[in-house]
Amino acid sequence: MNDTFLKACRGIKTEYVPVWFMRQAGRYMPEYQKIRQKYDFLTMCKTPEISAEITLQPVSILGVDAAILFSDILIPLEGMGIKIQFIEEKGPQVIPTIRKASDINLIKEIELSEVDYVFQTIKILKKTLKVPLIGFAASPFTLATYLIEGGSTKEFVNTKKFMFLEGKSFHDLMQLLTKAMRKYLSEQIKAGVHVVQIFDTWAGILSPFDYDLFVKPYINELINHLKEVPVIYYCSNTAGLSSNLREINADVLSIDWRIDMRQAAQIFKNQPLQGNLDPLTLLGSEEEVLLRTKKILIDGQLAKSHIFNLGHGVNINTSVDMLRRLVDFIHEFRIKEVPNA
Ligand code: CP3
Repeated sequence: MNDTFLKACRGIKTEYVPVWFMRQAGRYMPEYQKIRQKYDFLTMCKTPEISAEITLQPVSILGVDAAILFSDILIPLEGMGIKIQFIEEKGPQVIPTIRKASDINLIKEIELSEVDYVFQTIKILKKTLKVPLIGFAASPFTLATYLIEGGSTKEFVNTKKFMFLEGKSFHDLMQLLTKAMRKYLSEQIKAGVHVVQIFDTWAGILSPFDYDLFVKPYINELINHLKEVPVIYYCSNTAGLSSNLREINADVLSIDWRIDMRQAAQIFKNQPLQGNLDPLTLLGSEEEVLLRTKKILIDGQLAKSHIFNLGHGVNINTSVDMLRRLVDFIHEFRIKEVPNA
């Protein structure tokens, strides 16, 4: 087993910087498209043999140092009495929506047997994987935005309306989702994942005051219950929330490109960091990609340990060759001289 990624998760400096990519399995890859032509996305997530095969694709094709379970952050809602759909061009849809206090009763306590396919996939993968496996869930807040909005949104009007009109019930919703994600992630750990990542894609829509009030306590509660494996906390658009994020208990903090890695290493002292190349850089020339990658790798040496990743998921227009070149460049890179902090 290649344990470079696990070492970096635990804050140990590694011989080379381990790398994996959020959304490393997906439509940009011809091998994924070939399977996707035969099945819809949910069928792929719900069939352990298919899901396991897709999880393995980027490991063999790109040579990354970790695999991430092929699934989606909305999948656990299926065990909570909520229906999910993925509609071409429109993205995810959640039915029914939860827009007021009384709607919370529509969400039932998570029934893990209803999403057993997730744990079966992990068990299959454990037998063949040569790199660590990352399990995941959304943060309670990011999951709530999908429940409240019913899908993707730009303004989050319904979420904020709920939050600022019925704050106490919003906290009840956070508590309920924290408990559900705790159970869901604990079961993934029991099935064998080596690390878990909490996706907080939408935390950055909040003011620092509201992040502290509605997000931070639930993230820390969740992390405190997941002691068996390292926990990575990914958030986006949160450069303005740096001092709030210092109070998050995650083993690894995964940051986006809107914050400089060198500055991040100074703000988050003694904290393993993951990130943070802008994924759309990969649509540019190799020269520009490697220039920015080299800077991130040098600056990442100032952190307690560094895992290379993108600041968000791989874009559908990304070339597989570019990602492969990037992985090779990162693996070959050695720091000769560590710059002063
Ligand atoms: O990273 C991986 O390779 C593991 C699999 C994974 C998927 N989604 C597969 C997927 C993971 C970790 C996710 C997380 C996820 N899903 C997030 C958090 C991370 C982020 O990107 O911000 C969010 C917000 C979602 C919700 C979601 N799922 C959206 C908005 C969409 C539609 C957008 C799109 O690209 O189509 C999805 C669908 C989805 N999830 C696909 C994949 C491979 C595309 C499905 C297809 O083939 O049509």
